[in-house]
Amino acid sequence: MSHVAVLPGDGIGPEVTAQAVRVLDAFGIAYSKHAFGGNAILAQGTPLPEDTLAACRRADAVLLAAVGLPELEGKPVRPEQGLLGLRKELGVYANLRPARAPGIDIMIVRELVGGLYFGEKGIREDGTWFDTCEYSRPEVERIARRGFEIAGARGGRLTSVDKVNVMHTSRLWRDVVTQMGSTLYPDVAVDHALVDSFAMTIVQAPETIDTVVTENTFGDILSDIAAAVTGGLGLAASASLGDDGPGLFEPVHGSAPQIAGRGIANPAAMLRSVALLLDHGLGRAADAAALEAAVDTALQIAPTPDLGGTSTTSEVGDAVLRALDSARTL
Ligand code: NAD
Ligand code: IPM
Ligand code: MN
Repeated sequence: MSHVAVLPGDGIGPEVTAQAVRVLDAFGIAYSKHAFGGNAILAQGTPLPEDTLAACRRADAVLLAAVGLPELEGKPVRPEQGLLGLRKELGVYANLRPARAPGIDIMIVRELVGGLYFGEKGIREDGTWFDTCEYSRPEVERIARRGFEIAGARGGRLTSVDKVNVMHTSRLWRDVVTQMGSTLYPDVAVDHALVDSFAMTIVQAPETIDTVVTENTFGDILSDIAAAVTGGLGLAASASLGDDGPGLFEPVHGSAPQIAGRGIANPAAMLRSVALLLDHGLGRAADAAALEAAVDTALQIAPTPDLGGTSTTSEVGDAVLRALDSARTL
């Protein structure tokens, strides 16, 4: 029997998790909850306690809501370090961030465990603070492979996003993608875009985009933009996958401190992350499709304030469970 490690995290995290575990219960999936993020820092001094990491490694899949507490922003020990640490420990280098709306079907494949967020950082003797962006050829090859394979299984078009006009690592990135495209994936149509103008393309012509592969920082920023043009962060889910071991499934959004505690967060991004977990993590594609459809129905019936409605987080959960139930009895 499969087991899911659930990390509710901070802010709206526990609120959207409450709806996600109702769905896990409905599918008869066992889970356990673990401390992670800001709450873990306050209680235990570390965002990623050892027993939490051990539970994640043992699990078939990990479901994370969001971390981040305003009072810990910019502090030496931060919730976000726990998230980067967990991704690195699980080796989940490929972060799939779909963005869909009528006429739009984008899949961003973001490199997740390298680049600027993981490079050497520190303070030099002269007082200068620095972060470094590094990529090795194998690191680029493995994420490019994912990008090509996903593009091949979708519309057959891959846009590789870089900043080759300025950044050294982008020259490696473009070289690897170009070479792999011509030698290994001749059936995928590849094009290259510079990240600044590509951000504009997402806003102005999102319907022209199929699959995107890009490095960590660019993927972070572009996926929030893609979410914004397809209904907002309340809807955007993601799957982070390695070559083996459990995947990590999490919304694109954060802990949304401004709305935390009010019961109005949209749980759709979290529930769609459960659907990705069912599909990629547990191999239950039919259940994933049923949940996707139930979430779509629930959003029509019970939209939350971010979508212009008045429904609460738990009312969306109610509507999802009702839709799942009626689909089963059909
Ligand atoms: P955020 O994603 O938390 O919020 C951005 C905006 O989107 C806010 O207006 C918020 O109210 C809204 N929003 C987000 N999720 C929503 C939902 N489910 N329903 C309705 N509205 C929603 O980004 P931020 O404010 O820049 O960051 C807040 C904290 O979250 C920071 O500490 C940051 O580091 C952290 N963060 C964590 C993750 C993660 O855990 N994966 C991701 C991004 C940010
Ligand atoms: C995301 C978040 C994280 C990231 C932060 C909170 C570490 O912004 O998942 O998009 O930068 O990857
Ligand atoms: Mn982000």
